[in-house]
Amino acid sequence: MRPLRSIFKRRDTEDTRMTKIGYKRLLSMTSTEPLSSTEPLSSTEPLSRPEPLARPEPLARPKVCAVGGGKGGVGKSFIAANLALSTSKYGKKVLIIDADLGAANLHTFLNIEAKGLSFSNFLKSEVVELKVLLNKTGFQGLEFISGQRDSLDAANLNGADIARLEEALSLVDHEYVFLDIGPGTSSSTLDLFLMADRGVLVTTPEPTSIENTYRFIKCLFWQRIKKIFNTEEDLPLKKLLHKVYDLDWSKKTKIKTIESILNLMKLLDPEKGAALKRIMGKTKVFLVVNMIKNEEDEKIGAAMERACRDFFGIDIEYIGGIRYEDSVTDSIRRRRPLTVHYGRSDAARSIDNCLQRMMRG
Ligand SMILES: Nc1ncnc2c1ncn2[C@@H]1O[C@H](COP(=O)(O)OP(=O)(O)OP(=O)(O)O)[C@@H](O)[C@H]1O
Ligand SMILES: [Mg+2]
Repeated sequence: MRPLRSIFKRRDTEDTRMTKIGYKRLLSMTSTEPLSSTEPLSSTEPLSRPEPLARPEPLARPKVCAVGGGKGGVGKSFIAANLALSTSKYGKKVLIIDADLGAANLHTFLNIEAKGLSFSNFLKSEVVELKVLLNKTGFQGLEFISGQRDSLDAANLNGADIARLEEALSLVDHEYVFLDIGPGTSSSTLDLFLMADRGVLVTTPEPTSIENTYRFIKCLFWQRIKKIFNTEEDLPLKKLLHKVYDLDWSKKTKIKTIESILNLMKLLDPEKGAALKRIMGKTKVFLVVNMIKNEEDEKIGAAMERACRDFFGIDIEYIGGIRYEDSVTDSIRRRRPLTVHYGRSDAARSIDNCLQRMMRG
C-alpha cells in the first residue's frame, strides 16, 4: 500500500486540474441572480430593528461560525466583524474571537484598542476560561476576544488544544460565536475552521483567490481523512478507508480524487460511505464572493458551488456576493463598522442577506 504521506502530497495535482478547467469555463457553467439592491450608498441612518433570526435551543451550546479562506486580504475579517455585528442587531448575544494566528487585526474593524489578555493567553494555556478574555465592544450584545499581537509567536495547535478550545467554547453563555480565521491551509487553520458548525469561505472573483478557495475546500476534506486515520475512533471506517486506498492504487489511478474516494466507499459499504459523508458534512460550508465589480463576477459563486459538487462531490452553499464599494473602505478607514454606520449601503444589505441564508442553511 502506498504510504499515506504521498497520498496527501498529491492534492495539488487536482487543484491544477481545477484551475485548468478554468475561470471562463466556470463562468459558463451556471448563472445566478444579480445582486438585488440599487439604493444609494452611505446612508448613516440606522436600520429599524430586523425580524428575529431562527433561535438556537435555549441554553444550548453556542452556534460556532468560522470565517476563513485560502487567500489573504479577501475581506475575511471585514465580513466576520459585520456578520457578528448583524447577528447582535437581531438581539442575540454574540462573541467574536480574533483567531488569526498570524496577524490579528479584527480589533481595528470594531474600533477597539487591543490590550490586556488575548486569545494567545488561552492558546498558551495561561488562562483556562474564555470569560476572563472577554472585552466589551460598545455594540450592544457583542463581546470580543482579541488575537495574539505577536505574529512571530504564531501558534501551532495540536489536537489537545483544539479539544480544550471546543470545551471552553461550549461553556460561554453566548448564543453565537464567530471566529475570524487567518489565511492559508495550515493544519491549525483547518482545525479551527472544522470546529465550527457553520463555516464561511470568503473568496474574491480573482482567479488566484478562486484557486486558493478550491485548495482550501480540498484541504478541509484531507484534514478530516487524516483525523480518521490518526484516531482509533471509528476502526471499521478506518479499515474501509485503507481498503479504498489499496483498491484505488491497485487500479493505477493517477490522481486520487475526493469523488473517487467517496464513490468507492459507497460501493464497498453504503453504510460506512454514508458515515464518511456525514463526518465530512459536520461543518456546513458556505461561500461568499466579496469585492464583486461586474455581472460576470456575480456568476462566480453559483459556478463554484456547482463545480465543487460535480468535480469533488463536496457540497458547499453559495450564500451571496458583496460588491466592491467605497462605503466599505470608508467604514474601515473611519473605523465605523459598515452594518452599524452604513446600514443602507448595498454591501451592508448583502452581508445581512448572507447571514440570513447562512442561519437558514
Ligand atoms: N467589499 C469590499 N469593497 C471594498 N473594499 C473591500 C471590500 N472588502 C474588503 N475590502 C478591502 O480589503 C481589505 C482587506 O480586508 P480584510 O482585512 O478583511 O481581509 P482578510 O481576508 O481578513 O485579510 P487577512 O488574510 O490579511 O486577514 C480591507 O481593509 C478593505 O480595504
Ligand atoms: Mg483578516
